[in-house]
Amino acid sequence: MNAPIPHLAAPTVAPDLDYARHPAFTDVDRWAPPSASCDALRLHVDRLFSRACDPTFRLDERELAALDAAFAEAARDLPRSDPVAARFAEGMLAYAKQLALQDLETPRLRARHLPRCATAESAAIAERMYAEGHCFHSLEPDEVERLQAAVADEYPRLRAHAESGETAREKLSRNQWDAERMRIFASVFGKPRIVEALGNYMGREVAFDGLAFELSIPGIGRWLRYGGDLDNLRTIYYHLDRTSHAPKGVFYLCEVGEDDGPTTLTGARYSDSPFECAVARAMDNAALHRIAAGPSPAAGQPPGHLFSHRAGRAAFASLPSQLRQVGHFGNDVPAGSEAERAIVGRERRMLGPAGTGVLFDGALVPHRGGIVTTGRRLAFQVIYRCKGARNDAE
Ligand SMILES: [Fe+2]
Repeated sequence: MNAPIPHLAAPTVAPDLDYARHPAFTDVDRWAPPSASCDALRLHVDRLFSRACDPTFRLDERELAALDAAFAEAARDLPRSDPVAARFAEGMLAYAKQLALQDLETPRLRARHLPRCATAESAAIAERMYAEGHCFHSLEPDEVERLQAAVADEYPRLRAHAESGETAREKLSRNQWDAERMRIFASVFGKPRIVEALGNYMGREVAFDGLAFELSIPGIGRWLRYGGDLDNLRTIYYHLDRTSHAPKGVFYLCEVGEDDGPTTLTGARYSDSPFECAVARAMDNAALHRIAAGPSPAAGQPPGHLFSHRAGRAAFASLPSQLRQVGHFGNDVPAGSEAERAIVGRERRMLGPAGTGVLFDGALVPHRGGIVTTGRRLAFQVIYRCKGARNDAE
């Protein structure tokens, strides 16, 4: 048995932005005040996670009823004057509750495990995951060769799409594979060293679940931007993943340098408050963005970032201040600001040849990647899944 590792002792990275004075919000004149019941809710949830560190803790009916009551109380006190904003806030709070419950089921967010790994290699990966929420892990040369052979006919197809001007993600990636190729992928990404380490970190059995092979080129992902001066390229597109029971990996299949959209992690967790982490991820729900944007934003196009349209900004401003957490941040960080320096100063950029990779806990550690400036990137996005985990918060 290895020594206990302090669980994510890294600092937090949620930018402390004054949205009421932010240049994106000059058209918003009303900001909801803090709410006492949201304060009580935050305290309730954060204490619940602290108590859940005790291995004897059980999320029983009494605990669930108390949690329900705290959320219901906060929902009752939400501002009601604007019906769209009220629907947005209600949906946001309900989804935050769903994510908090999912997080409570995932022991890695609440307990310090004693790593129990059969090999020193998997123990080393688990320990990095405990300490920092991510672990760089390069593949062996023969593994890279097997992967390159498995997608040899796929790359020309994606490249042809790129050359014909396609920038839609589905035209530049593939995530459905035949059994033979899945067997090859599983032999690399599902090897015991990795799944044992991730299982140890998550506190539940983990399996390789599948992957997407992606070509990234300049110009994709632009709909996520605000537009104009609010696209801070140094911090754009940092985000948390919503699902907390699906650790991820990114592995390159070509050399990736500064201009090729390297995967970058903040080297810090979003917040020390489990409540804030759940709210920040709930805020990124596209269905909620659609409520704020109205029935048909730009003829069926995705509504984009919540802050990219006036109704979205107003919906955000209508939330009690305790609920104004943004899990998809960076665009709004002013260039040259202290917040920008704090984020950029801690980030870990993954540069390197084919086979360079990282395993990470995307619901805890903000990350970004694929924002290509002049080059291109070929990478696998690898998904793992805790066995038996519910998929209801995808
Ligand atoms: Fe992500």
